[in-house]
Amino acid sequence: MAKSSKRDLVRAAATARKRAVAPYSHFMVGAALLTQSGEIITGANVESASYGLTCCAERVALFNALTSGKRNFVAVAVVARAPGGPMPCGACRQLLAEYAPEAVVWVADSRALHAPREFFIRDLLPSAFVEVPQDSD
Ligand code: THU
Repeated sequence: MAKSSKRDLVRAAATARKRAVAPYSHFMVGAALLTQSGEIITGANVESASYGLTCCAERVALFNALTSGKRNFVAVAVVARAPGGPMPCGACRQLLAEYAPEAVVWVADSRALHAPREFFIRDLLPSAFVEVPQDSD
C-alpha cells in the first residue's frame, strides 16, 4: 500500500477522533476505513450513561460504511491518545473479521501519527466465527 494512503487514513482517523462522544471515559477514539476504490469512511466512539451500550470507533466507522453501501475494505486506522495506539477490542475484532477480513490495521497514538503499528485481522482474531452453520435437523 502506498505510504500516502497510510498517512491519509491515519490522519482521517485522527480528525474523526475529534468528534468522539466520550463523556464517561474521556477516552476519545477515531477510526477510518479505506475501500479498494480509495474511499475513506470514518467514525468515533459514542458512549452511553448505560455504559454497556457504548460503541467503539471501529464499529461506528464500519456500520457507517456498510450502511452507506461500502464494501471491500483494504485498511482500517485507529487513533487515540494511547502509547503505541489503541488495540481494537474483541467485539470490534469480530465485526472486522466478518466485514473486513483482509484489511490491514494501523493503530496510532494521537501524539505520534507518523508511527502507526501494523496488524492483520486474521492475527488479531484467529479462527474467527464468521459464518452461521445451517442446521438441517
Ligand atoms: N474504544 C474504542 O472506541 N476503540 C477501541 O479500540 C478501544 C476502546 C472506546 C470505547 C469507550 O468509549 C472508550 O474507548 C473506553 O473504553
